[in-house]
Amino acid sequence: MNNQTQILQMIDICKSYPGVQALNKVNFDIQEGEIHALVGENGAGKSTLMKILAGAETLDSGEIRINGKKVVIDSPQRAQSLGISIIYQEFNLIPQLGAAENIFLGREPTRMGMVDFRAEKKKAREILDRLGIQFDVDLPVSQLSIAQQQMVEIAKALSVDARIIAMDEPSATLTLHELKSLFALIRTLKQQGISVIYISHRLEEIFEICDRLTILRDGEWIDTRPICDIDRDGIIERMVGRKITDEFPKQSFWPGNPILQVENLSRGFVKDVSFSIRGGEIVGLTGLIGAGRTELARVIFGADAPESGKIKFAGKPLHHHDPRKAIDLGICLLTEDRKGQGLILGMRIRENITLPKLSEFCRFFFIQGSKERQSSQKHMENLQIKAPSMETVVNNLSGGNQQKVVLAKWLLANSKLFIFDEPTRGIDVGAKREIYLLMNQLLERGAAILMISSELPEVLGMSDRILVMNRGCLVGELDRHEATQEKIMKLATTAPEKKLTVGI
Ligand SMILES: Nc1ncnc2c1ncn2[C@@H]1O[C@H](COP(=O)(O)OP(=O)(O)OP(=O)(O)O)[C@@H](O)[C@H]1O
Ligand SMILES: [Mg+2]
Repeated sequence: MNNQTQILQMIDICKSYPGVQALNKVNFDIQEGEIHALVGENGAGKSTLMKILAGAETLDSGEIRINGKKVVIDSPQRAQSLGISIIYQEFNLIPQLGAAENIFLGREPTRMGMVDFRAEKKKAREILDRLGIQFDVDLPVSQLSIAQQQMVEIAKALSVDARIIAMDEPSATLTLHELKSLFALIRTLKQQGISVIYISHRLEEIFEICDRLTILRDGEWIDTRPICDIDRDGIIERMVGRKITDEFPKQSFWPGNPILQVENLSRGFVKDVSFSIRGGEIVGLTGLIGAGRTELARVIFGADAPESGKIKFAGKPLHHHDPRKAIDLGICLLTEDRKGQGLILGMRIRENITLPKLSEFCRFFFIQGSKERQSSQKHMENLQIKAPSMETVVNNLSGGNQQKVVLAKWLLANSKLFIFDEPTRGIDVGAKREIYLLMNQLLERGAAILMISSELPEVLGMSDRILVMNRGCLVGELDRHEATQEKIMKLATTAPEKKLTVGI
């Protein structure tokens, strides 16, 4: 990074919300063509810092300099004119429009007062070519994969000549293959002198792609240094403020009776799947995104009806196709889409946590306030949910803390089977460990866990057995002692030849 120009400096940035000092005298800088990681626990202030840079939030005090000159960023338009773009985890695309229309939305090229669609398409193609991306720019973006939609966002940033692109957890919803193309694209941006701010909770990605990193903790700046100057443990220690020795505190329990038995289950994409789980067991269900894992979970939970096959719960056949009954019986599904299915954003933390088991708190038709408060308080503490109080509206929490609320909500329900779909997505290392410890507690009280996850270290670290799905079929089962990343990837990527029946 010698002889490079510092294009952005953020100095002594402060920002507070009611009851929270989100940023306290934070310093951050980036050089031309640099890929700079921004890391920290959930609620550390990463997204807030980026929102201030992008003009989506205003700072309380501090200074921002671009190319050494002081600037005031008081609106997203101002940020854009200064060459700053941010890509949020929730994309800002109009699903019905094509990539070209989305890229130039509000800035359409015109000819004689009319939108010049030909010019628009040509320009869109030019930008995508520059990034080495190929897909139909007319196709509605709702028909593109998440990774392709992300590329449209990046193209949008380039179309306004962004020199600094902030990416807030861009990898969270990508498959391994898509992640490789994102990295290739980021490297292309770097070669073109564009600077990228990269936020992720997956430290291995940071080592692969970033030049430098800045660590925040509780709204404070902790460290900035070249990536070659620090190792994984060093980052974790600075992020969390203490050493974490065992990332995966797996405890083994003697397996009890079968809790879930799935026999020859088919529904849509899911074909002829059979497996079983006993009490005290965590079964990891992995495979590439789109392999059918979430579909399978929905059928077990009763959200979709099976086309054929049988499900037995605690030895009895399940005939219902109603999630309410599933909850009453003791089946929990923690969805991967926390905003869509798991949380009511406008409600308070306490209300969200007690939602699934409200009947337990209701006697004579009114809610017993103190009981409700006690249980949610306990879970807030266990999961270290960072918020001023239980009365905080969930919408105001950091992404990772929202995920913890979803978890707390289900842990309160005294269930026998927990289906966790990507339970630690967007969650920091320290809090992940807390979640694993809670899983141990659930197992100890005899529950069974089906853990759907794409994070192989987590699957390998926490599962007793690992099931691999590939294109709707179950293609393999591995014991925790024989499983390796390579074996799982091989099963997950080669075309399935035969179906597998396991553990019945
Ligand atoms: N609009 C808001 N109103 C109130 N508090 C807020 C608001 N936005 C953020 N906060 C608080 O500011 C703190 C920093 O949040 P921020 O979203 O920046 O964290 P983060 O580092 O991005 O975390 P994560 O890794 O979970 O995404 C948190 O305590 C959060 O609850
Ligand atoms: Mg965030």
